Amino acid sequence: MCGIVGYIGPKEAVGVLMDGLKRLEYRGYDSSGIAVLENGKVTLRRAVGKLEKLQAVLLKNPLQGRSGIGHTRWATHGRPSEENAHPHIEGGVAVVHNGIIENYLALKEELKKEGAHFKSETDTEVISHLIHREIKNGKKLAEAVRRAVSRLKGTYALAVISEDEPDKLVGARMECPLAVGVGEHETMLSSDITAILNITRKAIFLQDGELVVITPDGVEITTFDGAKVTRPATHIDWSPVMAEKSGFRHFMLKEIFEQPRVVADTFRGSVIEEKGDVFLNNFNMRAADIDKIVIVACGTSWHAGLVGKFLFEELAKIPVEVDLASEFRYRDPLVDKKTLVLAISQSGETADTLAAVKEAKKKGASVISVCNVIESSLTRETAWSFMTHAGPEIGVASTKAFTTQLVALYLIAVRLGRESGRVSPEFGKTLIHDLVTLSKKIEHILDSAGRIEALAKKYFHFRDFIYLGRGINYPIALEGALKLKEVSYIHAEGYAAGEMKHGPIALIDEDMPVVVLAPQDASYPKMLGNMEEVRARGGRIIAVVTEGDKEAVLKADDVITIPAASHRLTPLLLTVPLQFLAYYIAVLKGTDVDQPRNLAKSVTVE
Ligand code: G6P
Repeated sequence: MCGIVGYIGPKEAVGVLMDGLKRLEYRGYDSSGIAVLENGKVTLRRAVGKLEKLQAVLLKNPLQGRSGIGHTRWATHGRPSEENAHPHIEGGVAVVHNGIIENYLALKEELKKEGAHFKSETDTEVISHLIHREIKNGKKLAEAVRRAVSRLKGTYALAVISEDEPDKLVGARMECPLAVGVGEHETMLSSDITAILNITRKAIFLQDGELVVITPDGVEITTFDGAKVTRPATHIDWSPVMAEKSGFRHFMLKEIFEQPRVVADTFRGSVIEEKGDVFLNNFNMRAADIDKIVIVACGTSWHAGLVGKFLFEELAKIPVEVDLASEFRYRDPLVDKKTLVLAISQSGETADTLAAVKEAKKKGASVISVCNVIESSLTRETAWSFMTHAGPEIGVASTKAFTTQLVALYLIAVRLGRESGRVSPEFGKTLIHDLVTLSKKIEHILDSAGRIEALAKKYFHFRDFIYLGRGINYPIALEGALKLKEVSYIHAEGYAAGEMKHGPIALIDEDMPVVVLAPQDASYPKMLGNMEEVRARGGRIIAVVTEGDKEAVLKADDVITIPAASHRLTPLLLTVPLQFLAYYIAVLKGTDVDQPRNLAKSVTVE
């Protein structure tokens, strides 16, 4: 995790770095810091806590300079403290780091024997010492960094400045993302592209084992072995405004409201309505070549995978297993070249998901992905990627990325169904029609924000919640509960409704609100039964039902409605009110909605 940023150019570096860090703060927010070359001296400011703490330090003790580096931290080695905050400085060299250095203890011992004095508990500090040692031995900065990284085992994205060569910044990448922002006479380094958008929409993405030297007018990339790399810049579609709150109180709320548009953006360009088919550029998988699909993902993306199982099995008639990436990789999973492994990740940088992909590739499986970030590690590791068009998702709790993932899976399932003939052209037309009418239905749900906010006032003081769903909506019960946990810190469990009688029913009393997902579908009568069971034990029911519902409304204490839709798309619609419920409860509880404690958006550690 952690976010790193670097700037060199004509502007005051502090402003650019702080703006960049603000956009990277979702990656970690235990502490932050920046180092700027002020009058030729590397000068440091650091603070524990969120970025506003660093801002306050800078107000009191401003910094001036045209180049510098910054960091926002999610602690791995060493508690959140000022000494452990980045940048780490040694003899005029300052380093910021995202990743984990696995052999840092051995390196530390080696350096200590030579007289090095360590000021922090971090793994990162060995890097500044290693680089400084090389510079002391007469090496230029880029060569010193090259030699230093040759000693490192682990993962890293680095940005380095040095008093000896104030006209440049050096970056290096190994399994952690690092992008170069190419502006007009100014250049940036950043963990992700949201941080560079204020100066440019031109980015070059570093690959593993590459080192970059940036100056205001130049970008020089080489491999760790010293071979020159030529890579053109990519144009980024995202605008700076897309990464801002645009008047919303929180990113989470803004991102919930963006869903009608981003859902449409995700299917637009892929659906061919008159043919009842889906066009997926360069997708050449054939159902006949696939024995089974294995979906791997983490967190909310895993929930999308669970919905995907229903879609693939129903439409393409291919058996599907859904695995948590962190479980898959530590087994000896049964996959081979007839297996299609589908990895789902918003960020494309989740370490467990990437490791699962590597494991599947080793075993000969075809590996594809659904991802939201172009040029992320996942898109590079997989043979084919479907890019969701959610735009930058800043709120740590995933909302719009999830609903666009559901759209992506729907599209791939329809394509495989059409390709294999299991979905007829006529049925295809219905499926596509269902999809293209979706945005309007989401918009309609957004109108109920106020009502759900009122409901939140009634329920925010409860300490535990249960969410129940069946079939394709069971994953949405999991997702609803996860959302509530993440942002409000209230304990919540998602359950397959049929399992309630095997345990959770013992928990039900008047202090246990139960959110029941009961849209009009084949399992509706069974959900009514579950509601009776809850009522009989004094539990309070919040039912999410289809508009016009006559029966569930009579059994529930409170009701939220969604428009009627095909059962294949109901999960997406049910998700939206549950996002609102979690959001408004969290606001009432006064938690840090966009950056909940202990969480990070991109979990790049295993
Ligand atoms: C973190 C985030 C979750 C996200 C999960 C997987 O835990 O807080 O919101 O669902 O990582 O992330 P990915 O980027 O792989 O979808």
